[in-house]
Amino acid sequence: MKKMIEKCNIFIDILHFFLYHITRNGGTELGKIISVANQKGGVGKTTTTINVSAMLAKKNKKVLLVDADPQGNATSGLGLGKDSEFSTYDVLINEVEIPNTIQKIKLKNLDVCPANMSLAGAEVELVSAVGREYRFKDKLDKVKDYYDYIFIDCPPSLGLITLNALSASDSVLIPVQCEYFALEGVGELLKTIELVRKYYNRNLTIEGAVLTMYDARTNLSNQVVKEVNKYFENRVFETVIPRNVRLSEAPSYGLPIVLYDPMSKGARSYEKLVKEIIKKNK
Ligand SMILES: Nc1ncnc2c1ncn2[C@@H]1O[C@H](COP(=O)(O)OP(=O)(O)OP(=O)(O)O)[C@@H](O)[C@H]1O
Ligand SMILES: [Mg+2]
Repeated sequence: MKKMIEKCNIFIDILHFFLYHITRNGGTELGKIISVANQKGGVGKTTTTINVSAMLAKKNKKVLLVDADPQGNATSGLGLGKDSEFSTYDVLINEVEIPNTIQKIKLKNLDVCPANMSLAGAEVELVSAVGREYRFKDKLDKVKDYYDYIFIDCPPSLGLITLNALSASDSVLIPVQCEYFALEGVGELLKTIELVRKYYNRNLTIEGAVLTMYDARTNLSNQVVKEVNKYFENRVFETVIPRNVRLSEAPSYGLPIVLYDPMSKGARSYEKLVKEIIKKNK
């Protein structure tokens, strides 16, 4: 009898697995892991991570957002508290699996692995940890198949947390702010990506650079667009994210722009960017 129940359970698990894969999003098979990185601070990493993730979820893609920044801006920007039982810190340092950390928000297809200040300690604790560059990879590989996309919001540094994110990722999305010194530090980021490719993750590619906080009224913004296009050649997204006050207000309401003001310029630009991402990954 016990054996029969066990067999039934295995059968139900297999059935569940197939049903899930047949029904999800018209059968697209992705599970793509994308790090959103640029060690320069305040360039729009978190705004891009939140809004691209939410826009994809709205389009029926199953998305996981991993907040990998001790500032926890993606966590609070989506209206989540920073006092959850488990967080990204536990994923990196302890034996906690990602499903145990998941927090739900208003969008049913978006799961969040939250972060708080404890993550700052991980940067130090990882130094002496075994397999320290692969902590994220080991955990993310286990849940990869359950999602269409996984986005990692990286901190503004090239330390061990970012290294972990890059080692686990299929590609890197690089927000570049339309400002003076826009490309400052980008060379260093590209060098880091090269090193990761060489030593930890041969398959890492560049998803593309995305220009953020564009202001059509200034010559500077237009100059930066030209400069970035020249630097990244064909790896720049056509969609440029404008400076839009609704985008900066949305996190204080704990909402992604698609829920806060779906008709705003900011929402429409992120929707366009998401269409480009989907097209690229078809
Ligand atoms: N397109 C935009 N229009 C207006 N404000 C924006 C836009 N993008 C980002 N901001 C604002 O700029 C600030 C920095 O953005 P964000 O937090 O996304 O950058 P970041 O790169 O994640 O920063 P950090 O390096 O500290 O993690 C925030 O206050 C955000 O609300
Ligand atoms: Mg951020």
